[in-house]
Amino acid sequence: MKKLLALIMTVAMLAMLAACGGGDDNSANTASETYNVGLLQLVEHPSLDEIRTAIEDELAAKGYADVINIDYVNGQNDATTMNTAAQKFVSDGDDAIIAIATNAAQSVAAATQDIPIIFSAVTDPVIAELVTNMDAPEGNVTGVSDYIDVAAIFDLAAELTPDVKTFGFVYNMGEPNSVSVISQAKAYLDGKGIAYTEAFVTNIGEVTTATQSLMGKVDALFLPIDNTVASAMSNVADIAIANNIPVYPAADSMVNDGGLATAGVNYTQLGKQTADMLIRILIDGETVAENPVEVLTEYSVTVNPETAAAIGVDVSAYTAE
Ligand code: TRP
Repeated sequence: MKKLLALIMTVAMLAMLAACGGGDDNSANTASETYNVGLLQLVEHPSLDEIRTAIEDELAAKGYADVINIDYVNGQNDATTMNTAAQKFVSDGDDAIIAIATNAAQSVAAATQDIPIIFSAVTDPVIAELVTNMDAPEGNVTGVSDYIDVAAIFDLAAELTPDVKTFGFVYNMGEPNSVSVISQAKAYLDGKGIAYTEAFVTNIGEVTTATQSLMGKVDALFLPIDNTVASAMSNVADIAIANNIPVYPAADSMVNDGGLATAGVNYTQLGKQTADMLIRILIDGETVAENPVEVLTEYSVTVNPETAAAIGVDVSAYTAE
């Protein structure tokens, strides 16, 4: 009988320990309490990697490295891989989910209406149908947006290479983030009477051919915040440089990978804000509705001096100390 009682008590204690992982059902945030967070990143390219590193660094800096366990999955830019990861987070009973980039956020949002989802670097959360109201998210989804100011990029282009008469776009129509930026770009260029032509890709393997198809037809390239193109950015840059074509992408990482110049947001800052929002919802007990979508609004210019030298563009205004 004593043995049975001991067994029952052991089972009860194990059940209590397991319940600790659940998080909000425990009143005190004891040091032994841990949380599990699924993290789905659309694909590995420098900008998304920078965001993930910044999220991890911020969690560590705030003292949560051993409290919040991150279950990281690389989505490989593949819908099946992402949906499988999203299902796994749900069946694991994760306490929250972070999704880096638009299509990753869409995969996790389709998998759960309950678990809080904090997205990171979703350019246009409304077009992506993740939220209907950025100021007051109604469901289980909120996060941080890297909204793109196309006017700032085209103004920079007009300053550095004023003779551009036709821009070429390369992008994946399956990325709502790109579709949103391209529609803004078209409206902007239509207003200025500047022409454009576009080349489409559906996967990373098509980026080289698509870029080559525009050579001889355009004076410059504008690349939206496209993950497929960013994953093959050095190929785009090689082709453009060989043809003396300036490339204006929508992210600093794509300039570092060989593009000419951009005006964009700071993705380390964006990752930090994502981690802070996660902490508020997971640890401080705030709701998703209490956390409006945050939009980064500070843009800074990044130029690539080697690319500039290779195609003979003067970027000294942005490199001088
Ligand atoms: N904003 C992109 C999205 O909504 C993700 C992204 C972040 C990105 N940084 C980038 C894409 C740099 C291309 C290049 O999915």
